[in-house]
Amino acid sequence: MFASAPQNDDRQRVRDASDIAAVVGEHLSLKAKGREYVGLCPFHDDRNPSMCVVPTKQIFHCFVCGAGGDVFSFIQKYHSMDFREALEFLAERGNIELSKFSPSNASGDAPPSGVGRKEIIAANEAARNYFRTILNHPEHGEIARELIEQRGISAEMVDRFQIGASADRWDGLSMTIDKMKLNREAFADAGLLKQRETGGEYDALRNRLIFPIHDQIGRVIAFGGRKINDEDEPKYLNSPETSVFRKSTTLYGLNHAARAIKKRRTAVIVEGYTDVIACHQAGIEHVVGTLGTALTSGHATVLRRLCDTVVLLFDGDEAGQRAADRALGVLFSETIDIKVAALSGYTDAKDPDELLARDDGAEIFERVIDGAEDLLKWHFDRLRRSLSDAGPARMTQAIEDELGKLSELGIANLSPIRRRLVIRQIANASGIEESIVVNALRAGRNGPRQRFSEPGIEEHPDHETGWKPDARERLLGCLLCDGQLWISMSSEERDLLSAGLFSSPMSRMVAQAMLDSVEDGTGSELHAVLAVLSEGEDNETDVAPRATTLHQMVSRETEGENERVRRMFRECVNASAMLTMNHDRAESHDTDLEMDETDRLRAFIERQREVRNRFGKGGKARLVDE
Ligand code: UTP
Ligand code: MN
Repeated sequence: MFASAPQNDDRQRVRDASDIAAVVGEHLSLKAKGREYVGLCPFHDDRNPSMCVVPTKQIFHCFVCGAGGDVFSFIQKYHSMDFREALEFLAERGNIELSKFSPSNASGDAPPSGVGRKEIIAANEAARNYFRTILNHPEHGEIARELIEQRGISAEMVDRFQIGASADRWDGLSMTIDKMKLNREAFADAGLLKQRETGGEYDALRNRLIFPIHDQIGRVIAFGGRKINDEDEPKYLNSPETSVFRKSTTLYGLNHAARAIKKRRTAVIVEGYTDVIACHQAGIEHVVGTLGTALTSGHATVLRRLCDTVVLLFDGDEAGQRAADRALGVLFSETIDIKVAALSGYTDAKDPDELLARDDGAEIFERVIDGAEDLLKWHFDRLRRSLSDAGPARMTQAIEDELGKLSELGIANLSPIRRRLVIRQIANASGIEESIVVNALRAGRNGPRQRFSEPGIEEHPDHETGWKPDARERLLGCLLCDGQLWISMSSEERDLLSAGLFSSPMSRMVAQAMLDSVEDGTGSELHAVLAVLSEGEDNETDVAPRATTLHQMVSRETEGENERVRRMFRECVNASAMLTMNHDRAESHDTDLEMDETDRLRAFIERQREVRNRFGKGGKARLVDE
C-alpha cells in the first residue's frame, strides 16, 4: 500500500535542512514554551494557541483540530500542495539540489496527464517570462516602459513585482508557446489563450501592462493586465479563476508583504495593484490588495495567520462604505479585528498611488492608517449620520432594524465568548445598551443560519466522529515514541498490530505504514512512519495527523520519560491482547451477553490467565477491568 520510494535520500536531505520550528515560524507567529513552541493553529478557527511545534521530534500538532505531522505535512496542508511540491518548496528554501525527478520511478506520481495545478503554474511562469521579455523589447515594450516611467514606478519595483507587458498583437504569446513547444492546453486552462470562433487561439492579454499575481510563496497564479490604449476596455483584465487562483482568497503582494504584516501584527488592504506597488516603493510593506472584490472571509483566514488587525483603506467614502458593509459578515466569521480608513478625510489625492507620489505622501498615509476606526463604529456612525434629521424614536428603530440585519449575518453562530465580545462592540458602536442589543439580536435571529465560509476554502478534515483511542491505538502511540520497543516485541505481540484488528480506518493505516517502515528498516518511530505516509500513493492527508496525535498523546501522558513509555507499552500490549481475544471470542460464539454473571467472571479470569501466559506479567497491576 505505501510503497517506499527511491527519493528517500532527497527527502532526508531536505528534512535535515528544514527545521520545523523555523519553517512553521516563517508562516505564523510562534512563542517559545519550554522546549516547544506554541502558536495559533492555521487549520481551524483558533482562539488560544493550540498548535505546538516540537523541535526534538520535528513535528507539529494541534490539540483542538488534530492537525499534525512533520515539516512536509505542514507545508502540504498550509499551501495545499502535494508531497512533491512541498519537497521542491523546502528544497528551494534550503538551497538543496534535488536528484533528477523522473515520473516513471517516482512513487505514486502517475505520468502527468491533462492539466493540473503544476502545469498551470508552469504555463503562468513561462508567460511571465514572455511578458518580461516584451517589456524589455526595444520596440514592443516601448510604450509600456513609458507608462511605467510616467507613473513613477521604480526599476526596483518593476523587478520585485515582476511587471511585464504584452505586445500589441493577437498572437505574440501564442507563437512563443509553439516556438518553445510548450503545452498549449495548460495556457488555455490558465486563461492566457482564448478560443477563436473560427478555430485557433489568440492571446487573452494584448497590449497591456502586466501585473503577475503571486501566491504567498511567490508562484505565479494569475495575471492582471492594465490597458495601455485609452480606448481599450476594460481597464483591468484579470485571469479567470483556475485550480490555482481564487479571487476570494488571493491578496495581491502578499508574498512581499507577509513578513512586514507579521512584524506589525497589522495588514493594510488597498484597492489596486498600483496602490500596493506605490506603498512598497515608499517602504510601507505591510500592504496588500484585493483583486477588485470586497474583503472576504477567505482573505481573513489567510491574514489571521499573520496578524490580528486588518485595516481596509478606501479611496473614497462611498465605495468604501459599500465594501465595508460587505466586510461586516467577515467580522462575524473570523477572529480578526477589522478597521476602516478613507483617504478622503485627509487628502484630495484620489488613491494611495497618487498620494504617495507627493512629497509628504508617506507621512499622510501613516496618519490615515493610524486614524482607522473600528468597522462596527464606522458602520454605526455612518448610519447615525444618514439619519441625522430623524427624531430619536426613528433613530432607535433604525438601529434596532440594523441589529436585526447583523444578527442574520451570523452573530448567532459565534461561540459564546466571541458573541459577548461582539455584542459589547456593537453596544459601544451603536450607543445602545447591551441588554437591548441582545434582545434585538434575538428578535432578528430567525433568519437562515448562514455560514461565512467561501466556497473553495478548505475546512479542517472531518475526523472520525467521537474517536477515542483504544489500547491497541495507544500501543501504536508508544511505538511511535520509542523505536526500541518494536525490537523488544515477540512476533506474537507484533501480530496485535495486524491491520485488520483496528476498527478505525485511519489508525489501521497508521499501523500499516508502521509495518512498512519497519520492513524498510527505518523503524517504528513517528518520523519514519510519516515518511512512509507522505510517499504513499493514497495521499492520505488525514493519516499523518492521526499518527501525530497518537504520538503526542503518549508523549504527554508519560512526559516523554522512557521508563514511563515502557510501562505504558506493557500495559497496552496486555490490554490489546485482551481486545484481540474478545474479538476472537465474539466471532466464535455470539457475545458475552448470553452468559450470566458467574460465567462472565470465570471467562474474564481465564482470559487474564491466558494473556499472562502468552505475553508476560508486566501489566498485571492495571490489567483492564473492562
Ligand atoms: P482603479 O480603477 O482604482 O484602478 O481600480 P487603479 O489601481 O487606480 O489603476 P490606475 O491607477 O488607474 O492604473 C482598482 C482595482 O480594481 C480592479 C483592479 O484590481 C484595480 O487595481 N479593477 C478595476 C478591475 O479588476 N477591473 C477594472 O476594470 C477596474
Ligand atoms: Mn490608481
